[in-house]
Amino acid sequence: MERKLETRITRMLGIERPILLGAMQWLAKAELVAAVSNAGGLGVMSSATFPNAEELRQEIRKCRTLTDKPFAVNLTLMPSLAPPDYPSYVRVCIEEGIRIMETSGRAPEAFMETMKGAGMTVIHKCTAVRHAKTAQKIGCDAVIMDGTEAAGHVGENDVGSIALWPAAVDALDIPVIACGGVGDGRGLAAALMLGCEGATVGSRFFLSEEAPALREGKEMVAQRLDETGTTLVLRRFQNTTRVLNNGLAVKVREMEMNGASIQELAPYISGRRLKTAFETGNLDDGILTIGQISGILHDIQPVRKIMDDMMEDCFRCMDRYR
Ligand SMILES: Cc1cc2nc3c(=O)[nH]c(=O)nc-3n(C[C@H](O)[C@H](O)[C@H](O)COP(=O)(O)O)c2cc1C
Repeated sequence: MERKLETRITRMLGIERPILLGAMQWLAKAELVAAVSNAGGLGVMSSATFPNAEELRQEIRKCRTLTDKPFAVNLTLMPSLAPPDYPSYVRVCIEEGIRIMETSGRAPEAFMETMKGAGMTVIHKCTAVRHAKTAQKIGCDAVIMDGTEAAGHVGENDVGSIALWPAAVDALDIPVIACGGVGDGRGLAAALMLGCEGATVGSRFFLSEEAPALREGKEMVAQRLDETGTTLVLRRFQNTTRVLNNGLAVKVREMEMNGASIQELAPYISGRRLKTAFETGNLDDGILTIGQISGILHDIQPVRKIMDDMMEDCFRCMDRYR
């Protein structure tokens, strides 16, 4: 019989394992989301993948055909040249019976009344304790604390996970979910030892069979990267993002240093370009968000195996000191 690892988060979300899928634009679609939920974690669908709320609705429906377990939808509230119609995304989630919303980027204050009024559990992902305190104050049920190791938007303070997670645990009453640098059972055990109630995992699930990117691209990340394989871009715009350190990222950094505007950078950093790179497998032709932990991830595995191994290794780490 499988050993149980119950935390405030597994109880709150109605899941068996304290592992959440990192919302990943273009990738956290029905198949990957359902795979994580079916393996006992919480799949989190990326609403930013869909150009409009109706397409999100279809993906939610598709996901329901693949799992009867809980899954969440992420709203990434970032400054954008063409911001999505967030209220319609929230409305569709409510109409489709989504019970758990994850927000990231800005605090979700504007949507709290609607989401809580519909009985949703709201989890906010943030990069600083002061932001987490705001999330707690406005009624979020849990926070995800995203250390600077993480893939994607890491904030402007460069605080590593090992310092950030316990700082949030000490400062908050609501449960804290670790994020940024959890790629295996050792990372999950470390998160739990530091007082977190679970972990959000992105880069490891990018290197899963179910992540809908061409295998060649995933192989390149699995084989080429060590712990120094990422870099930060868009700091000048206070939108610092951890990405694969490829030729395009070097170009973007140079353009930033030379004072390029966001409009001038747009053709290089555009999400559309990354979508094409996922489809062609040439990840050197896009700005790929990927975390430092990819330095220890050298294989592509099915989600179920990733999660089984993570739990087994986590227990092994915890047992070492019994
Ligand atoms: C390819 C990729 C795309 C991502 N897209 C988003 C996104 O659209 N919104 C978001 O909040 N986080 C996004 N993230 C960040 C993840 O949700 C998660 O916070 C992060 O990957 C955790 O750090 P880790 O990679 O060290 O596990 C993305 C991550 C990856 C790898």
